[in-house]
Amino acid sequence: MPVSLPPALELSLDLLCCPTCRTRHLHPDRGALRCPVGHTFDIARHGYASLLTGTRATSGDDPAMVQARDRFLSTGAYAPVREVGARMAVGAVSEQSTVVDVGCGTGYYLAGVLDQLPGARGLGLDTSVRALRSAARAHDRAAAVAWDVFRPFPLADGVADVVLDVFAPRNPAEFHRVLRPTGQLIVVRPTGRHLAELRDRLPEMVTIDPAKEQRLHQALGPFFEAVVTERVEYPVTLSRLDVLDLVAMTPSARHVSRADLNDYGFLPDRVTVSVLATAYRPR
Ligand SMILES: C[S@@+](CC[C@H](N)C(=O)[O-])C[C@H]1O[C@@H](n2cnc3c(N)ncnc32)[C@H](O)[C@@H]1O
Ligand SMILES: [Zn+2]
Repeated sequence: MPVSLPPALELSLDLLCCPTCRTRHLHPDRGALRCPVGHTFDIARHGYASLLTGTRATSGDDPAMVQARDRFLSTGAYAPVREVGARMAVGAVSEQSTVVDVGCGTGYYLAGVLDQLPGARGLGLDTSVRALRSAARAHDRAAAVAWDVFRPFPLADGVADVVLDVFAPRNPAEFHRVLRPTGQLIVVRPTGRHLAELRDRLPEMVTIDPAKEQRLHQALGPFFEAVVTERVEYPVTLSRLDVLDLVAMTPSARHVSRADLNDYGFLPDRVTVSVLATAYRPR
């Protein structure tokens, strides 16, 4: 039986354009999306649209990382980060707006914004199939689409009121193209103090490049002007299982196995969460 069109995808269908020929107006057709020229893309049984066909993306979280992220986020340890993202988004737009979350992961942050904007619709992009499965269920107004942030987005020009990027890769030119001139880009990223206690203990954990902020401003500068930046920093107390998930959901998971971690003995039960959130307007 063909998959029916998920309601959240239907809500966002007019934002999409065909990734192959760039024609707008993808329409549902027997469990797939079809462009006027005839290019066809599957709608996965799990509720996301598979627009990413052909060559596989070179990055994206694997199922174990996504499961760890899902469990960790459900502890509420990052709720203040979600709140700052939602607050910035709500301050930037009207209720009837369109929010695009790039590298949306499980859809946790997108759902946080949509909860605060009852008339808004959301669209999450990610390469990870397992993340998209969660993102497609994260909120009844959040659609999920398989896409690689480093390729031209399958979105029409100027359709987004907010582009959200939380701990995810960025494509400044595409962010600029899909945003309305009055829209805002919100970028949340870790500071050098983020999870410092854990990084001190685990040499395998990916370090935060001190030049990261400078590189961010250089990359966004030609397209965006920063409007406001907020720092969110607080300690969280974690169980040992939470700590294992916190490590397992980061790229460090590729360098250290859960079994290795279990053998580690002492792991901190209190870590610092430290992020910067900036709202930018398009130039
Ligand atoms: C650190 S996670 C952040 C996820 C989510 N924003 C959050 O904070 O919970 C980075 C996300 O970017 C996705 N990602 C990595 N490379 C990508 C790419 N080239 N295009 C789209 N998404 C990508 C990963 O699959 C993952 O879900
Ligand atoms: Zn097409």
